[in-house]
Amino acid sequence: MAFATLPLLLADESDTDALAQALALAWIQHGAPRLLVTLEGELGAGKTTFARAFLRALGVQGRIKSPSFSLVETYRIAIPDLQFKGTLQMPAYHIDLYRFSDPQEWEDSGLREIVGERGASLIEWPQHAQGLLPQADLSLSLVPSGTQRVGQLVAGSEVGMTMLNAVPERLKSG
Ligand SMILES: Nc1ncnc2c1ncn2[C@@H]1O[C@H](COP(=O)(O)OP(=O)(O)O)[C@@H](O)[C@H]1O
Ligand SMILES: [Mg+2]
Repeated sequence: MAFATLPLLLADESDTDALAQALALAWIQHGAPRLLVTLEGELGAGKTTFARAFLRALGVQGRIKSPSFSLVETYRIAIPDLQFKGTLQMPAYHIDLYRFSDPQEWEDSGLREIVGERGASLIEWPQHAQGLLPQADLSLSLVPSGTQRVGQLVAGSEVGMTMLNAVPERLKSG
């Protein structure tokens, strides 16, 4: 059941980066609970670009490869624990299901266990595991035209709703 849908208009890549940053910061401020974000859109829509900016905002340094060949790239993140003034150590997973030819591969991949643990998971091509993924906290879909992206953000949980509410006004359309 979706909580809310937000239409977006991203003029260029810096808007996509700004969207990812705002969402990542809202997640941290919410105490960084287990998170699943799904990313939909054709090849070149900007899914990996969004995921990179999201991971950067979580403090990931160095190269962020597209996981289209490796299936999953794992990062260790250390984010500020706003309640106890320390840091929270957890994994972040960047997953790309493009190469799945059958949703059953999701079950065989072991990704269900990974995504069910703590940390943040960003999944490109979630429709390639149609019906098998857990409910996403947030689903982003992107439709490209030039450098512009028409986007739609759907919140599927309370944390997703909190993140959706943190989207800067100027990125909203309509
Ligand atoms: N507004 C935008 N948002 C995201 N990417 C954009 C935007 N405008 C242009 N681009 C370019 O589009 C491409 C998107 O590629 P990528 O993020 O790998 O897409 P996907 O993972 O969806 O296949 C990149 O080359 C990026 O620089
Ligand atoms: Mg990609």
